[in-house]
Amino acid sequence: MSAEPTCVTARHFDYIRERTVPEDSFLADLKAAALVAHIPPIWISPEQAAFMRILLRACAAKEVLEVGTLAGYSAIAMARALPPGGRVRTIELLDAHADFAEEWVGRSDVAGRVDVLRGDGADVLPTLGTDSADACFLDADKAGYPLYLQECLRIVRPGGLFLIDNAFAFGQLFDENPTDPEVPAVRAFNEHMAQVPALESVIVPVGDGLWVGVSVPERLLAGNG
Ligand SMILES: C[S@@+](CC[C@H](N)C(=O)[O-])C[C@H]1O[C@@H](n2cnc3c(N)ncnc32)[C@H](O)[C@@H]1O
Repeated sequence: MSAEPTCVTARHFDYIRERTVPEDSFLADLKAAALVAHIPPIWISPEQAAFMRILLRACAAKEVLEVGTLAGYSAIAMARALPPGGRVRTIELLDAHADFAEEWVGRSDVAGRVDVLRGDGADVLPTLGTDSADACFLDADKAGYPLYLQECLRIVRPGGLFLIDNAFAFGQLFDENPTDPEVPAVRAFNEHMAQVPALESVIVPVGDGLWVGVSVPERLLAGNG
């Protein structure tokens, strides 16, 4: 076995996509309706949703916290991986997105298992209880990520799962002159994330790069958040 990693290319992504269970017609309909409602198509991919569901099942997550609802695609996808009584709390800044997501959650097979919390993640997260989630998924404004992470280190129970999107900065991570204004915040967050002692984490090349981490209880106890 070689010590050199295989360089993941667009062809590998296509290969993965072709071998992932496709999304069902409900989520496809949700995306089509979101486009009609002028909601930007920036939801996670079906293969990323599948990967996240596997991780949630593997850690037997019951309570999931998301920052960045958009149309509710990822919240519904994650809720499907939870056991009876499980719940996704998802925070959304824009009422138009929250309204759309609530409507589609209400029509979905996980109605009653997704709560849309309205407001800025920076304001809502401090109101949530300590150790009240098993996993979190950060997928909102990138400048807010350091604060969201700090709050989630309190809210997610020791040993819980951390999923944080867009580590590859919308494909512009290495661009000298990136066009997306959030690229510097992603780069800064990646450096920060690599240094958080309480987390064991790695960037997984799925979608636009997904940070996957678990908190290490003894490091949390040592105050290394
Ligand atoms: C990339 S989208 C989320 C996609 C969604 N997770 C999915 O895959 O289906 C980002 C969302 O975060 C919301 N957002 C941006 N800033 C926010 C903030 N400060 N607090 C909460 N939500 C925010 C945006 O309005 C947008 O709906």
